Amino acid sequence: MKRARTQVNYLACVLARNRAKKKAVVLIGCIGQKGGGGKSTCSRLIATVYAQAGWNVKVADLDVSQGSTVDWKKRRDQNGLQPEIAVESFRTVQQALKVAPNYDLLVFDAPPHSTAGTKDIAHAADLLIIPTGLSLDDLRPSVLLAHELVDSGVPADKLLFALCRVGDRETEINEARAYIEQAGYSVAPGSLPERTAYRRASDEGRALSEVRHPSLRGRAEELAQAIVDRINK
Ligand SMILES: Nc1ncnc2c1ncn2[C@@H]1O[C@H](COP(=O)(O)OP(=O)(O)OP(=O)(O)O)[C@@H](O)[C@H]1O
Ligand SMILES: [Mg+2]
Repeated sequence: MKRARTQVNYLACVLARNRAKKKAVVLIGCIGQKGGGGKSTCSRLIATVYAQAGWNVKVADLDVSQGSTVDWKKRRDQNGLQPEIAVESFRTVQQALKVAPNYDLLVFDAPPHSTAGTKDIAHAADLLIIPTGLSLDDLRPSVLLAHELVDSGVPADKLLFALCRVGDRETEINEARAYIEQAGYSVAPGSLPERTAYRRASDEGRALSEVRHPSLRGRAEELAQAIVDRINK
């Protein structure tokens, strides 16, 4: 709990500094090759943490066929949760970028697969989060996507992997971390375990940092803090 308050205060200071310097909008993309890896979950977490600190945030839901973050926002509003998070469906990254100057932070919630849209996000964004599971079936395509983006001119230090939907075995988590690091990429500290409480929170329109269970809340906050730290670096 203490960490959340500290993070929010810190982010509020950064926001004040950015506004004083008239700094442009921050752009964060959550991208991934595979479906169900945690792109939307991470987008909602990032948006919520920044909105709690007073940032004017928008999530661009680029998965028009599913619109799952648009639906999440409806559930959030139906449950009267604060802060309100602006979510809008966009067919293209270019359309989303047109509204970017109205915000302090724009989060791109990407569709799966390495589409042209994913490359557009990768080139536009300040930071790219690649959520991945721990199996080779998840890790390999995630790293291949990263290689593909780097080959297309995206700097490798724009990429940050996030270990999502992990099990309870530390060894498996460490091996996945090593796999990604050996491929030349950074992995955010911490990991998000696969838990019913997270699913339930999402069903209620909450971000993972808004779960009631303190240790699960702490793990979501650790990931959010790592993303905030990377943005501020
Ligand atoms: N740590 C977790 N514990 C339990 N359920 C999770 C966790 N992370 C994500 N989920 C659930 O897994 C499903 C997929 O997650 P999410 O929608 O974030 O993935 P995605 O990468 O956006 O998927 P898609 O490619 O279909 O857009 C969702 O139902 C979500 O609620
Ligand atoms: Mg999604």
